[in-house]
Amino acid sequence: MCGIVGYIGERQAYPILIEGLKKLEYRGYDSAGVALLCNGSLELAKSVGRLAALEEKVGQVVPSGCTGIGHTRWATHGRPSDANAHPHSDCSGEFVVIHNGIIENYLPLRNWLQSLGHRFCSDTDTEVLAHLAEHFYNGNLGDTMRKIMAHVHGSYGLVLMTSREPEVLVCARKDSPLIIGLGEGENFIASDIPALLKYTRKTYLLNDGELALVTKSAVRVENAQGERLAKQVFHVKWDAVSAEKEGYEHFMRKEIHEQARAVRDTMRGRLTEDGQVTLHELGLLPERVRALHKIAIVACGTAYHAGLVGKYVFEKLLRIPVEVDIASEFRYREPLLSPDTLVVVISQSGETADTLAALRLAKEKGCPVIAVTNVVGSSVSREADHIVYTWAGPEIAVASTKAYTTQLIVLYLLALQLGAWNGTVEASEIARIAAALQELPAQIDGLLHKEELLKDFSRRISAWEDAFFIGRGLDWAVALEASLKLKEISYIHAEAYAAGELKHGTLALITENIPVIALATQPHLYEKMWSNVQEVKARDAQILAITMESEETKSQGADAIFTVPATLPLLAPVLTVIPLQLIAYHTAVLRGCDVDKPRNLAKSVTVE
Ligand code: AGP
Repeated sequence: MCGIVGYIGERQAYPILIEGLKKLEYRGYDSAGVALLCNGSLELAKSVGRLAALEEKVGQVVPSGCTGIGHTRWATHGRPSDANAHPHSDCSGEFVVIHNGIIENYLPLRNWLQSLGHRFCSDTDTEVLAHLAEHFYNGNLGDTMRKIMAHVHGSYGLVLMTSREPEVLVCARKDSPLIIGLGEGENFIASDIPALLKYTRKTYLLNDGELALVTKSAVRVENAQGERLAKQVFHVKWDAVSAEKEGYEHFMRKEIHEQARAVRDTMRGRLTEDGQVTLHELGLLPERVRALHKIAIVACGTAYHAGLVGKYVFEKLLRIPVEVDIASEFRYREPLLSPDTLVVVISQSGETADTLAALRLAKEKGCPVIAVTNVVGSSVSREADHIVYTWAGPEIAVASTKAYTTQLIVLYLLALQLGAWNGTVEASEIARIAAALQELPAQIDGLLHKEELLKDFSRRISAWEDAFFIGRGLDWAVALEASLKLKEISYIHAEAYAAGELKHGTLALITENIPVIALATQPHLYEKMWSNVQEVKARDAQILAITMESEETKSQGADAIFTVPATLPLLAPVLTVIPLQLIAYHTAVLRGCDVDKPRNLAKSVTVE
């Protein structure tokens, strides 16, 4: 997501910070800033936009100093702006922080600090950290960091610097990566390895709950109790290009593997300890929800497929009719919209032209509009009435993966929140679903560990120019996404069919050995689904089945079976899509395709 660089040594820090941040540009960001210790005081420079804008702002008179921190921000709390860019400073200007992650309890902390007289200059969650440092400082920066860590909830890769102790930088990590680069008479801090490679390949990788006191000649890593930890030096062997991808061959595979973390981040702070949902950012009045007669979900591509899952979930939990439209169709079909229709637009980028136009049409008709998006400050987020962010982090590969799974999580949370407000979902049912949601990250991790098994599926598919995905109910919705994934990156013609519909035409295309990927995770549809599989099997197709662990024995007769862990049938799409993304990925690799940048496609489609 955001990028962190810190330097302490004998050289001028500014060029090292800028150089390091440039190496993190691939991660995506919307503003940047640096802070340097110059003659005993802190000097800050920040700018919205690219690093070039920061450099232009700084001009010829670059801040001098041999200790400094720099940051590229990808907005979460507060839109991209100069004021919201990091580093953030306390009231005295003696403490500065840069931070990756989310401070979940920043609002109560901010209120408390304001009641003590602290003045805030940004809308960010991060700024509380600078004021906490000012509040807790007792002459020892390590102690101060420990107190901060004890008071904040959430995720952080965090660096703190103060003019009161100019010879030290302190950093800490929880759920957001942080690395120390070890030099000779100088040391570095970074959120990712590419920022360090020009200077050193010797690193310490911080673990959750650890903090490090970094001077130019030493690095002391401690646990939360202040005990010194003996860290192993990790020697980086990757070249610069693989380092950007954290050692993965492609961004797509890296992003597939980030999904356990991403899904966890999407739920972070949105499920209460007693298993209820709190989408406090939504700002939609419960009375308005109770008056709704229809929900319209509008999106494109993968986001549209997430919307199809949303239809099943909303209708089941809210008992309100739901229409799902492809945005480019919605705009031109004169949809029946009125103020009692809730319109939910879904867009990873928040810039898709057709989705934006649909949003504007819905607003013109007086509908309340909720945006589900990944990008703070995007057009969709600025124009919608209500926003729920997916917090997936930047997605670089053209093929959407973590955007889809995090969109699904938001749709589940949204359905539970709206269901609680309109009284269609009992608190006990919400708690049951919430408990299953919380198991998903570990289950995704488990699936990713079984990646090798899927290479056989890919090998079977890669030899063909056609493939079919079939399923019923929610499985059909996931089949549509799986077929899009396969066709866009491997260029294999793939079709997704509602399994019961095959015999109305498509069955004519089934020939000997053609790969048919059958999804079967919905117990109430299992018998029907398996009858459809037999129809295909009878035409000698090759059946590759994806099913739930509990249903495995029923899939006999399939040529290959892959199981996902048992979960509530409603949540199965989050798990079934993972092997399907991996199958598409490995098939494309086997066919020698440009996985991250498939032909004819762009990441963000800002034209009609
Ligand atoms: C799928 O892998 C694509 N990247 C594409 O279908 C994408 O989901 C679609 O263009 C919508 O983009 P958005 O979510 O940024 O609006």
